[in-house]
Amino acid sequence: MSHNQQVLRSEVVLEKHGKSLAGKTVLITGVSDDSIAGELALQLASANPKLLILSARAESKVAGIQEKIISSNPNVQTRFLNMDLSDLSAVRKAVDDLSDVLHIDHLVCVAGIMFPPYNKTKDGFESQLGVNYLANFVLVKLLLPKVRAAGPSSSIVIMASSMARQGKVHFDDVNFSNGETYDPMVAYGQSNAARVMFVKRLGEKLKDEQIRVFSVDPGAVQSGLQRHCPPEFLDQVAEWKKAGPMVDMDGNTFEIPPWTSTSEGAATVITGMVDPAISGYNGSYLNQNAVSDHELHSHINDTNNWTRLWELSENLTQQNFSL
Ligand SMILES: NC(=O)c1ccc[n+]([C@@H]2O[C@H](COP(=O)([O-])OP(=O)(O)OC[C@H]3O[C@@H](n4cnc5c(N)ncnc54)[C@H](OP(=O)(O)O)[C@@H]3O)[C@@H](O)[C@H]2O)c1
Repeated sequence: MSHNQQVLRSEVVLEKHGKSLAGKTVLITGVSDDSIAGELALQLASANPKLLILSARAESKVAGIQEKIISSNPNVQTRFLNMDLSDLSAVRKAVDDLSDVLHIDHLVCVAGIMFPPYNKTKDGFESQLGVNYLANFVLVKLLLPKVRAAGPSSSIVIMASSMARQGKVHFDDVNFSNGETYDPMVAYGQSNAARVMFVKRLGEKLKDEQIRVFSVDPGAVQSGLQRHCPPEFLDQVAEWKKAGPMVDMDGNTFEIPPWTSTSEGAATVITGMVDPAISGYNGSYLNQNAVSDHELHSHINDTNNWTRLWELSENLTQQNFSL
């Protein structure tokens, strides 16, 4: 396994590997002015894709990014896709709205929430599990035919977080006893562990079709994400850093990642989409532009948990996803 971790700007990754993006169709969730996905869209536009499908839950969220793309590279087509990930019927409707798009070369699921007060999605799931993970499970299932139609070297990249290292799927109580035992950090950890485990199994299943599948830790990026955190959150992170390393589910220590720019946050996503050096590690967890499975703990690595999660996800979403 390679351990060549390096914080890089997106421009650097695109300079090396961006040529393969020319003429491609890319769907990105979580696009807004100050999000990693918004930056990703701007960066990818410089690589001359044919079409960037920019998804958000309101057109106003993507308008600023669309304007910037039109002025920087008018040859790139953009299209808004309305999708609220807290409502599976909206996810299904969004997929129906793409009936005229015959193939998607890169499906990039970046949207997510962190540390909200206890809340449920329309379908009754704890909101971080529902938005960060279960909606992606359904979206990937429904869009897989279009990704397959794009052929080998297409990709499915799912955003995750270093918080997966402190997370596990609470199989007996994913909804935290209807909020009674809810801890926003534990639930964020659960949703990210689920993202990473789903990608592990999906990558294994799609390996022979040469569809690239990766989960990504973007590092620590100051974005819109911190909006549910108390105002003193950044001070709190600084205190945690001073107090020493974090401890994962197996008792191993790790450092909180350094703050980076949105360009550096988006770079590892681009690595997942196109870097040929990591093709042999399908399903892997990427951090700092490198395969970083050595950072994962035993609950995430347990293949029985991958199977259990897949079955649970099918049951919760009422979405059969056999491959
Ligand atoms: N920033 C970091 O340091 C960091 C670290 C580790 C992992 N991540 C992961 O990176 C991803 C992107 O985070 P970010 O930093 O770019 O945060 P962000 O600026 O808050 O962007 C998240 C995007 O997701 C969208 N979103 C939230 N709920 C949604 C829903 N129900 N349906 C559709 N879209 C929804 C938001 O749209 P609205 O504006 O409509 O809410 C926003 O555009 C997240 O998945 C997060 O877990 C971030």
